[in-house]
Amino acid sequence: MTVEFVHVFHPPATPDAPVLLLLHGTGGNEHDLLPLAERLVPGAGVLSPRGKVLERGMPRFFRRLAEGVFDIEDLTQRTQELAAFVAESATVHKFSTDKVIAVGFSNGANIAGALLLLRPDVVGGAILFRAMVPLTPETLPQIEQTPVLISNGRVDPLVSAEETGHLAALLRSAGAEVTVAWQAAGHELTESDITSAREWLARQPFRAR
Ligand code: MLT
Repeated sequence: MTVEFVHVFHPPATPDAPVLLLLHGTGGNEHDLLPLAERLVPGAGVLSPRGKVLERGMPRFFRRLAEGVFDIEDLTQRTQELAAFVAESATVHKFSTDKVIAVGFSNGANIAGALLLLRPDVVGGAILFRAMVPLTPETLPQIEQTPVLISNGRVDPLVSAEETGHLAALLRSAGAEVTVAWQAAGHELTESDITSAREWLARQPFRAR
């Protein structure tokens, strides 16, 4: 591999199963979302990297200047690096990137959103828990038929309903099939997020585009 991340990889149990690209939140690591993956799609493959940026010792996937204010240059470069890692992992482990569903929480959801906007070639769909608008690309990608679930909290002090609406509109304007699931919750993940994601996943065919 020319692009390295500390990571966990589990191959999919069957050729049809998706590969979940697990992207943790600030202060998390590559193990955080493994139990969630097992609950979302038993038998799914898992590719779970650890973010390389350290903020006061807490791993993240890109730098921020303040809460919710992102270093766009760093985010862009790290999105490209993560995309290269996913593409190389797909070659090495012999899975199709069409089968990759990014599953991100908070900071991980934000880099998953950036992947959709800058490098949609490495993901077939995405589940974004507590996501913000990561950036607005100069040119919108064409991501028709890419299913995206945004699962955000109605009383999240970090992500407003307006920002959630902007993210959904941005992805829709690029052609994505966006579903927004509102949770009676704040920034933390809840059981109802998992239920929404399972129900949404059950409606996805995971077929190649
Ligand atoms: C976080 O705590 O990770 C933020 O709310 C989201 C981000 O900085 O990407």
